Amino acid sequence: MRSQAAFIGLTLVSSVAAFWRMPCRSQTGVGRVDPIMDPGQIAGHVHTIHGGGGFGFDATYETLNATGSCTSCEVTQDHSAYWTPALYFLYDNGTSVKVEQVGGMLAYYLYYLQNVTAFPEGFQMIAGNDQLRNFSGPFPDTDLSSWPTDPTDQFFLEQRALGFNCLNYAKDPEPSLYRHTMPHKDYMDANCADGLRLELAFPSCGNGELDSTNHKSHVAYPSLVKEGNCPEGYDTNYPFLFFETIWATNAFAGEDGRFVLSYGDTTGCGYHGDFIMGWKSQDFLQRALDECTNQSGEISDCPLFDIQDDSIGAQCTFPMPDVLADDDVMGPRDGLPVDVPIQYGPANATEYPVAGQSGIATSSIALSSAPSTFSEGPTLSYTAADPSVTSTALGGIIVDVATSGGGRTFGITHSGSQSAPSSTTFATESSSSVAVPSSSITTAPEPAAASPDVVATSYITKGNEVIEMAIVEVDVTVTATPSTGSKHKRHVQKHQHHAARW
Ligand SMILES: *[C@@H]1O[C@H](CO)[C@@H](O)[C@H](O)[C@H]1NC(C)=O
Ligand SMILES: *[C@@H]1O[C@H](CO)[C@@H](O)[C@H](O)[C@H]1NC(C)=O
Ligand SMILES: *[C@@H]1O[C@H](CO)[C@@H](O)[C@H](O)[C@H]1NC(C)=O
Ligand SMILES: *[C@@H]1O[C@H](CO)[C@@H](O)[C@H](O)[C@H]1NC(C)=O
Ligand SMILES: *[C@@H]1O[C@H](CO)[C@@H](O)[C@H](O)[C@H]1NC(C)=O
Ligand SMILES: *[C@@H]1O[C@H](CO)[C@@H](O)[C@H](O)[C@H]1NC(C)=O
Repeated sequence: MRSQAAFIGLTLVSSVAAFWRMPCRSQTGVGRVDPIMDPGQIAGHVHTIHGGGGFGFDATYETLNATGSCTSCEVTQDHSAYWTPALYFLYDNGTSVKVEQVGGMLAYYLYYLQNVTAFPEGFQMIAGNDQLRNFSGPFPDTDLSSWPTDPTDQFFLEQRALGFNCLNYAKDPEPSLYRHTMPHKDYMDANCADGLRLELAFPSCGNGELDSTNHKSHVAYPSLVKEGNCPEGYDTNYPFLFFETIWATNAFAGEDGRFVLSYGDTTGCGYHGDFIMGWKSQDFLQRALDECTNQSGEISDCPLFDIQDDSIGAQCTFPMPDVLADDDVMGPRDGLPVDVPIQYGPANATEYPVAGQSGIATSSIALSSAPSTFSEGPTLSYTAADPSVTSTALGGIIVDVATSGGGRTFGITHSGSQSAPSSTTFATESSSSVAVPSSSITTAPEPAAASPDVVATSYITKGNEVIEMAIVEVDVTVTATPSTGSKHKRHVQKHQHHAARW
């Protein structure tokens, strides 16, 4: 299988940056539990929850960090809770079934901003807005150089902090955070042979508070979502937290119906997620951020981390509250669990009564059918190898690694997939070609790096498939030619963009 990597270094600044990837391969539970939004009571919709076993209606840093508690993540010092809504398939006859989630969650900690500060004990936050049902922007996104450098429009950034990645391991991968709405079912049937990866980026600028009334306003996105300028008053630079979950939507190819997120969203625009810091201590996390800077991103390359086997992590579950015992979150069942109405948009969704919460009866909310005006997402052709997209930060998560002159950049790319029995050794496939960025960027000369050096590889498994991620190192000489005004020029010079995708 062939793969491509597109890397570009704009004007170089030297910065210390790295990342690591926290695998949390199994759920601690699937249920209507959300200690941030609905502490102490039944939550509005079903979540898939990973991380610390000290989870529940009243989870806090203390319950997650309690002596003897477990974690479903591979690093035993990380009992953080990571959760997002679950994905369902709704047949045309009104029956819903939970889509199978593949491989748990990957929670990336990426250092885009300078001098990242560890999340403090007691810190928690939400990303996304579950009421949104309309993406009010062009698709694909306009070039990053045209984005405002002043990040006051957090609504603009929030809408672009989520991604629905169409997976087809036989093709080059789509960039991360590329499409911000759920693809059309027909599109998925035709293109997404390996399912859908849901992506969520958290804000990484903080005002120093542990939480806020709406659980969001103590944090903010920098001007380019992943990096850029923080808004005034948000001077604490946290690591860039990025969730990935994979769903086997391909199991429904050819079936009549649609995908719907557990809070009644068929558009995907309201996708969101939650995080409660549950590391052993802020100091420990800070040491990990300071010391675990190997460009591999592998937790095994960080000597501070104690790593447990996934089979141990899989035993970590939290006690599901008794009141949820009859929820039937897996289906097949009539409508979403439990009585969550589907709100198609484009108007914002409205609050609905939560079945079982404060005396509300578990009764029926009639399922409405989609309005005739409802449009189920754009139907573009598969866009994986479009270099003008991957040449910008839109080309996926950017791994910004310390550099000194010469445009040496690092990136990550999937280099294909291969079938393998559950545990075996893997043949290495190295990245072999470099897509030359175009658009407002001129390259000089053409990257001679026709075969970039693979400096490391790692693997993720999907069922009995193994996907290799190759960390490649490419020498690229690039001259940035901003197409618009001096404001943008300054902006371009200020940030170093290393596009990487996987
Ligand atoms: C709805 O359709 C699905 C798929 O054909 C089927 O499995 C399910 O039993 C049907 N539900 C009802 C209530 O007939
Ligand atoms: C980051 O820390 C270094 C060393 O303490 C310091 O020199 C530098 O100014 C800091 N950068 C920022 C953006 O705060
Ligand atoms: C939804 O977004 C589109 C742009 O994609 C915009 O034209 C339209 O006015 C929006 N609708 C609502 C109800 O906000
Ligand atoms: C969290 O747990 C660790 C290990 O058990 C303990 O040393 C630490 O004091 C706890 N932190 C807090 C703030 O309770
Ligand atoms: C960094 O990662 C690479 C690839 O996993 C590994 O070979 C190397 O030993 C690591 N270096 C350190 C200092 O851990
Ligand atoms: C939806 O709500 C957001 C804030 O939550 C608001 O900014 C946006 O304008 C609303 N959109 C519509 C279509 O009402």
